[in-house]
Order: sequence, then structure tokens, then C-alpha cells
Amino acid sequence: MNKRTFIKNISLLGVTPAFSHIDKWISEYEHIMPADLASAEIFWEGIRKGYRLKPDYINLENGYFCFLPKETLENFITHVREVNYQGSYYMRTKRFDDNKAMAEKLAALAGCSKDELVITRNATESLDLIIGGTHWQAGDEAVMAEQDYGSMLDMFKLVAKRHGVINKIISVPNHPASDEEIVDLYADAITPKTKLLMVCHMINITGQILPVKKICDMAHSKGVKVMVDGAHAFAHFSFSIPDLHCDYYGTSLHKWLSVPLGAGFLYVKKENIAEIWPLLADSADLKDDDIHRLNHTGTPPVHTDLSIANAIDYYLKIGARRKEERLRYLQHYWSDKVRNLPNVMVNTPVEMERSCGIANVGIKGMKPADLADTFLKKYNIYTVAIDYANVQGCRISPNIYTTPKELDQLVKALTELAGS
Ligand SMILES: Cc1ncc(COP(=O)(O)O)c(C=O)c1O
Repeated sequence: MNKRTFIKNISLLGVTPAFSHIDKWISEYEHIMPADLASAEIFWEGIRKGYRLKPDYINLENGYFCFLPKETLENFITHVREVNYQGSYYMRTKRFDDNKAMAEKLAALAGCSKDELVITRNATESLDLIIGGTHWQAGDEAVMAEQDYGSMLDMFKLVAKRHGVINKIISVPNHPASDEEIVDLYADAITPKTKLLMVCHMINITGQILPVKKICDMAHSKGVKVMVDGAHAFAHFSFSIPDLHCDYYGTSLHKWLSVPLGAGFLYVKKENIAEIWPLLADSADLKDDDIHRLNHTGTPPVHTDLSIANAIDYYLKIGARRKEERLRYLQHYWSDKVRNLPNVMVNTPVEMERSCGIANVGIKGMKPADLADTFLKKYNIYTVAIDYANVQGCRISPNIYTTPKELDQLVKALTELAGS
């Protein structure tokens, strides 16, 4: 079916659904390829109805966290009520089996073994467990980028202070000419003393996707372990963790998977588990290669963790490929219109495989904080200003409920502010 015919056909399906009919709504579109569905507004209007949206502004800041669709929110509230109703009985009799089931479901989505993944409270906790749990010796080196997330850079500073580790910080260009350019930047920072390399799967300030597998293979050829910060990648675009060849992978689940706030996971390749010190003492009964040694952080928010299954169900219902195609379509919908305007700087690569839903845009001569302020006050658009490393602009992070009409408002704002 060609594009024009299928769009005509789907518009014949009529009015967009009430929230309770979302399953049926999605099932009507099963036969349409994700790439074609990406621009089928009638379908996404139906998905949008599954969210409670604040009418005060256009929310283009889903990068902090992706709030819940109504369906997951209702499930979460049910879990809060039920755990509260069952009290300690729940914690003593069911909590551990449920946690296991959630981790197994996550492992299936991540493509890894259930023995290599534990639930944490966020990406910071996941990644800092590895940075802090590595057996450092004075003079050891670690490699990272100035575009990495502040909390992890701070944790590396802490281990530098505590153990005499030397941190080598590279800078990733916003518009790399090739994967090799990036791989070489990391490779050049490695010495015989390098023990750990941290790399973002997707840089949070620009949305740039890095060639992680190539970086891992290069680092391994030099005997260096690789920890991937996947805070913005997981459930944003499709991949399987083992295919990345990394040693460690940490992510938040309240970002693109839309789990309630306070959930993440840590993946550790089986052969590396025994090498990491736990942050807090674990049960003496656990074997050295049992990943549960690593996340013994006390009583967790179990109602949040129980919602992981609901969030995964919702994500799979939308469809991983459909979501990825839609997010990439939305980003290019606005960025392609402004990329070549005078005075506009799109700080995200143009190539399809180097980005997905997130991009960053600045106006020459305008401070990012002023741009964010003007977006909100004059154009009713909520974003976040980024003003460090080689990035001066606002991060634009739509979600699947975002409409092209909302992005037209962003294009209008940028065109006017650039004086075009
Ligand atoms: C790249 C990256 N890593 C890690 C984090 C930390 O996530 P959290 O605050 O959920 O721990 C963030 C948060 O925005 C991020 O963007």
C-alpha cells in the first residue's frame, strides 16, 4: 500500500478513541509499517488521548522524565493502594517474587540474561555503583567525555580524590564526520593504566547517539572495560544490550519507559559481576557472581517497581519500532525546517542514525537561558537551557503525544528569533 492510500484508509477509521479503547485503537493499525505510521497524525491523536496534558504550555522537556500515560498512572495508583492495604505481609511474602518477575521482564526487553540485571532507583545509582565499586588503585585512569552527565563526572571526581584515580576527559564533537572520528577520540585517551571507560549511549544535552559497539570493541582490544550510560536510550530507540558488547549498562526507567519516578536498572555482564565491590553490604550467602550483591540498598519503593510491568506492557503496545520512528520523525519535522536558517545552530547531527527524538538548538548571540525564557514567555513552549561543554542552546525533547502543530510553534519561534 502506498503512503497516500494508507493515510486515506486510516482516516476512514474515524474518530480518535476514548482512553479505555486504546488497545482496540492500536490494533487497527497493526498492518501499517512503523516508518509509514510515523507521520499518520490520526493514529498519534489517539495515542495523545491516553495522556493528561497540562494546557498551560507545550511540553518539549521530556528529557528530565517522561510522565505517565493515564493507563500506567492508574496501574501505579492501584499498586500504591494494594501495597498499603497488605502492609508488611506484602513485603515479607510477595515482594521478592514480584521484584524477580519485574527484573525478568526488563531483562527480556533489554535482551540480556535475568542473572545480569538488577533493578535500581535510577541511572545515577546504577552507574555510580560501578564507578564506586571498581577496585581502583592510585594511578589508575578512567576515560569519559565532558558531555557526560554531571552526577557521573562528580562520582569520578570523588574516586579521583579518594583513590588517586586520574580522569581523562575528552570532548565529543556535535557534528562528527564519521564513527571512526569518535572512536579515535576515545582511543587516544586510553593508556596502559586505563581501567574504565564511560560512554553515553545518547548524550543528554544534544541527543547525539554514539557508536557504542565500536567504542567497546576498541576499548576491549586495549584491555579496558566499558560502562555505558543509557539513561536516554532505553525504550527510546530499539537495541539489545549484549549487541553493544559493553561490560556495564545503567539506565533510568522513569525517562523513556515512563515508569513512575524512582526506577532504573543496572546490567553487568556475567563475567564482571564478581569484580565489583557492592556499595552497601550484601547478604553473606550470596555468591560472588550473583548480581543481587550489588543493589542491596534497603527497602525500595515497591509500588514503583511493580509498575515496571505495566510500563513495559504499554511500551510494547505502542511498539518499540513505532515509538522510535515517531520520535525520530518529530525531531526531523522541526529540525530540518530550521537547520539551515541563518543564526540558528542545531547542535545535533543530521544523520538519521546519530539521533532520535532529542535535539538541541541555539540562536547565535542569544544566551541559552534567555532563549528558554523567551520560548516560555513569548511562545508558550517549555524546554531546558544547556550552556556547557560545546553546547549552547535549548534541549528539545518531544514525546509520542507531541503534535506537529506544537512543533510548528517551535519553528515559528526559532524563525522569528533568528531574524529570518
Ligand atoms: C545521560 C544521563 N545520565 C544519567 C542521568 C541521571 O538520571 P537519574 O537522575 O534518573 O539518575 C541523566 C539524567 O538526566 C542523564 O541525562
